[in-house]
Amino acid sequence: MLPNIVLIGFMGCGKSSVGRRLATLTGHKFLDTDALIVQSENCSISEIFSAAGEEVFRDIEQRVLGELVDRTEIVLATGGGAILREVNRHTLRSIGIVAWLDADPQSLFERATRNTRRPLLQTADPQKIFNDLLESRRAIYKETADFRFDSTNLSHDQVAKQILDQAVKCLNERG
Ligand code: S3P
Repeated sequence: MLPNIVLIGFMGCGKSSVGRRLATLTGHKFLDTDALIVQSENCSISEIFSAAGEEVFRDIEQRVLGELVDRTEIVLATGGGAILREVNRHTLRSIGIVAWLDADPQSLFERATRNTRRPLLQTADPQKIFNDLLESRRAIYKETADFRFDSTNLSHDQVAKQILDQAVKCLNERG
């Protein structure tokens, strides 16, 4: 049986697009923590940040992740900050094989700032915030993931196929 696959990584790395393709390849159901949060709260991520603040958003994110521990046959795309809480890191690893989807910083920045849906980057100097967040999170993505995958210059389809191969290898290694 194919494992659950969890995608982590920085804003703009393509978790949702690759996750949808992985779901098609595996026949698993595609879930996205941000979409689950929006559905549960009935408002956008930006609205939650502006009305209640980041910590409340993180509480909801933690709750939504915790509700997924018993799910099977899923591909899960997570928000870029889902790895910040230790409890979430355990949850993610218990859900499935964790792949860190990475790309070169310039492509990440371009993709992450293409629209206004990411409240953390809606500042006077998004490049600085981006650099600081990326710098502080790289080690956490590394610690949480079973493997890192560099998607720079690859299509979403190519990335999905190669991540699936690596996830199956990891499953065998985890035993
Ligand atoms: C966040 C990433 C976003 C979303 C929220 C916070 C982060 O998800 O969860 O804006 O802290 O990196 P994406 O990684 O899908 O953009």
